[in-house]
Amino acid sequence: MAILEIRIVPDPILKIKAHKIKKIDDSIKTLALDMFETLQDAHGVGLAANQVGVLKRIAVIQTSLEDEPIYIINPEITEMSGEREVEEGCLSVPGYIGNIFRSENVKVKALNLDGKRIKIDATGLLAQALEHEIDHLNGILYLDHLKSHESLRKITDETETDTEDEEVSAKETTS
Ligand code: NI
Repeated sequence: MAILEIRIVPDPILKIKAHKIKKIDDSIKTLALDMFETLQDAHGVGLAANQVGVLKRIAVIQTSLEDEPIYIINPEITEMSGEREVEEGCLSVPGYIGNIFRSENVKVKALNLDGKRIKIDATGLLAQALEHEIDHLNGILYLDHLKSHESLRKITDETETDTEDEEVSAKETTS
């Protein structure tokens, strides 16, 4: 496995729609595992392939360190309902967080790494992460959902306490 370079705004690849994966071969599996290692290294919640410079529709999500990672290939949102304001960050927008609106509940269909069809019915952080990562695959950043630039905030030293808390908050908000 390898840690991949995470693309940072304004890298144009982050604005490009990723392509559907036609065959889940060894190169896709290697990419998936490398993406997961990269996500863990960055203490993030989710990572989409665009963010490591690959325009393929695959993302990995891990909302809690106790959980197994969820790999989604060619994901589609089939249903979304409700609305809630959330604080969000992104590994491609380091040092910033912003408040945006996300769905309360999302249903997603996708393929897993074995090529099997999976359905995810999600609320909370998982729902937020699914919307965030599927946005990435469509070339959309959470910044595009901000009502104004004033709703984007720099993470300052005052908002950080000790390292442990910092990692927890990063885990909660960056994907
Ligand atoms: Ni992101």
